[in-house]
Amino acid sequence: MMRIGLVGCGHIGTVHAVALQQLADAALIDGRLTATFDDDPARAAKVARHQGGEPKQSLEALLDEVDVVWVCTWTAAHLAAVEAAADRGLAIFCEKPLAPDLATAVRVGAALERVPHQVGLVLRWAPVFRNIATTVASAAYGPALAAVMRDDQYFPVQGLYGSTWRGDVAHAGGGTVIEHSIHDVDVVRWTLGDPVEVSARTASRFGYPGIEDTAAATFTYADGSIAQLTSVWHQVLSRESSRRLEVFCEKAMLWTDDDYLGPVHVLTDDGELLVEAEAPAWSERFTLPAVYAKALAQYAEPSKSFLDSLVQLRAQGSADPTTIGHPRAGDALAAHRLVDAIYRSAADGGTPKSVN
Ligand SMILES: NC(=O)c1ccc[n+]([C@@H]2O[C@H](COP(=O)([O-])OP(=O)(O)OC[C@H]3O[C@@H](n4cnc5c(N)ncnc54)[C@H](O)[C@@H]3O)[C@@H](O)[C@H]2O)c1
Repeated sequence: MMRIGLVGCGHIGTVHAVALQQLADAALIDGRLTATFDDDPARAAKVARHQGGEPKQSLEALLDEVDVVWVCTWTAAHLAAVEAAADRGLAIFCEKPLAPDLATAVRVGAALERVPHQVGLVLRWAPVFRNIATTVASAAYGPALAAVMRDDQYFPVQGLYGSTWRGDVAHAGGGTVIEHSIHDVDVVRWTLGDPVEVSARTASRFGYPGIEDTAAATFTYADGSIAQLTSVWHQVLSRESSRRLEVFCEKAMLWTDDDYLGPVHVLTDDGELLVEAEAPAWSERFTLPAVYAKALAQYAEPSKSFLDSLVQLRAQGSADPTTIGHPRAGDALAAHRLVDAIYRSAADGGTPKSVN
């Protein structure tokens, strides 16, 4: 059995703990949460009480007793936890963003590459974006010409998130672009590939220095296609988090306003096709109301895949650890480079920047 340690027992750490508990209780994984640690001991104790495991007094005490670590601290603390776990050769699941800035993200990525790992860019597992990316890659409707991604969320120092660190640039690295839209940047890159140039403007209106709440970025591609991202943190508390993606191909428009199952709308000269998807059938074994089971499956599916791979690696011994985990540090770093280009362009009045 894989012994799982959770480092950082706040919002997303608790979501992962619930997912791991549901997977373990339904015998869907050969693993279980066995240890928790948080700088705030009450949080580690609470997750352990409800989702299992033993609260530990230090990171090192947790690392002593686990096989794999879920790093779910706020962004600025990822590096220390990831390096400590990698130094022991432990497998690591690291939440996104890897770090508050590109240079530190490169260090986190280097540590992750030393061990079997996976990154929490969870939209890579959303059937709706997989359908769009594979359809565009198939060129069934001709080449992609343009894409528009809109992501809006209420300023997340309140409500569900309730995390003051999201208003502190030293902890978060920035606002809506790095903290939330790194997911969108990754999806756009997945769909259209790497742009050659990025230009962007950002604004910050809610009184948190260095935390942009509005951003508009343009990605230009070698073949002339263009993608645009608008990312907003507003104060509409009834809009928790919402995404819309439109992709124009030569012979079709594909769009969705759901970021998990879709449907994808495919508009062509022949009419409109709806491409629907289902949550994994095994999520029906979760002991939660169906609506929560489906929402949790977004996090449970990548976790199950990662743990299944680790169990297989342990059984086979010789399997190649560099093939384990999806997405991996390389994809996360590519998204960080685009985020960095957005910030560099915005700081330079919107001047286009090449992507390093
Ligand atoms: N993939 C996703 O969908 C998703 C969703 C939400 C958050 N996140 C990411 O997850 C991370 C955590 O976000 P959150 O919303 O859970 O924040 P949070 O504030 O709810 O939880 C963070 C926890 O980390 C703890 N912590 C901070 N430094 C620590 C350290 N050195 N050692 C141990 N614990 C420490 C804090 O005490 C807190 O309990 C962030 O990087 C965020 O960007 C990802």
